[in-house]
Amino acid sequence: MKEHFSKIGFVLAMAGSAVGLGNAWKFPTMVGQNGGSAFILLYLLLTILVAFMVFLAELSIGRLSRKDSVNAFYLLANNNKKAWSFAGFFMIGAILIVCFYSVVIGWIVYYIYKSFFTLPQNINESAALFSNLLQADIFSQIICFSIVFIFIFLIVNKGIKNGIEKMNVFMMPALFILLLLMLIYSFSFDGFLKACEFLFYPDFSKLNENSILNALGLSFFSMSIGVCAVLTYAASLPDKINVIKSTLSIILINVLIGIMMGLIIFTFVFEFGADSSSSGPGLIFVSLTNLFSKLGILGNILAFAFFVSLFFAGVTSAVSMIEPFCFYLINRFNIKRSLALFYIGIFVYIIGILCILSSAVKTNYNFNIFSYDLFSLLDFLTSNILMPLSAIIICIFVAFCINQEKLKNFFIPYMGHTFFLIWINFLRFICPIAIAIIAISNFI
Ligand code: PFF
Repeated sequence: MKEHFSKIGFVLAMAGSAVGLGNAWKFPTMVGQNGGSAFILLYLLLTILVAFMVFLAELSIGRLSRKDSVNAFYLLANNNKKAWSFAGFFMIGAILIVCFYSVVIGWIVYYIYKSFFTLPQNINESAALFSNLLQADIFSQIICFSIVFIFIFLIVNKGIKNGIEKMNVFMMPALFILLLLMLIYSFSFDGFLKACEFLFYPDFSKLNENSILNALGLSFFSMSIGVCAVLTYAASLPDKINVIKSTLSIILINVLIGIMMGLIIFTFVFEFGADSSSSGPGLIFVSLTNLFSKLGILGNILAFAFFVSLFFAGVTSAVSMIEPFCFYLINRFNIKRSLALFYIGIFVYIIGILCILSSAVKTNYNFNIFSYDLFSLLDFLTSNILMPLSAIIICIFVAFCINQEKLKNFFIPYMGHTFFLIWINFLRFICPIAIAIIAISNFI
């Protein structure tokens, strides 16, 4: 008998998957580079008009079939069942993401450890600490990655209810409380007002066509769409949960935490004068760490709280990347969860270590593929190719290839006839075309 989430367990687990490292560095960085709240408005618009619609489609495949992703496509397809079942293999995208994602959570573990000691005193020291970790301190990276690896696999090994749900029910509120405390603390800085102005005062002149691409890509990555994570969690949806309200709550939690992280990060950036347009890892591991050091021991506490909250956010996402393939292997080969995880673990561990080695440019092990290090290659492949492609396939599958009566019976009690019509037409015409244009223009 398949385990089911409780109602709150599902919302928190799905929000846990959505809220992740993407909120911590992709969201604030892109907001910073694309005109503050003008970009947030665009992101919200695309999240509601496209990501929300595709999310519901992916969710419906999982909930109506209650199967792993390959079997779900097989079971629901009206025709060409075998061919459709291959669409379920997009779950491999999630496994590829978890390989490099766990390496980054490993860096976070390293910084949690560092928060107990004197933090780097100036921006040069801070940059040196980070580049030393990446380029020379392979040993620490491997240790931290291994800790993360063991932790997430142990959680997934405990299953949906005892592992994934329990962890999310603890970590998501803890993450929220930690962020709230840090946010309240940032009120006391002048930088807070500047951060608000930066994030909430729309500067439409900074938007360009790239902003649209970025906003859509971000909303997909952030909502965990297109790699069967949503589908697999939805296969364990409890009966009678209002899927529309739950999905809107997940979006709200995701956006709220992104904004909270943005406010905290930019308060410190403006207060202590770092570059607000510096991006990604640089913003968090270099700028912030250095800024915390200016607050003495309080800075250490803040650094600890900040990196622990990032750890929670990352780990709750990482488990949702492993579960789809694990669930598939259990069903397909009728094996125990632990054995399925053993096979997945070997792959993730090897690729994770290769990611570490490939970005360690100062070592002899360094190697590149098509001028990308393995790390960036996996990121590019999953976010820019697999996720959009799979999202288009999901739209077409749900809109044209499954029993529409079943779909109506499931959704109409929650969304009514009118919204159902709007939704299905979005899936038929607007979403696939919009996603295709965006994905293709990434390459031009
Ligand atoms: N939503 C996660 C984040 O924003 O960091 C990333 C993610 C989680 C992508 C789960 C894919 C996935 F299956």
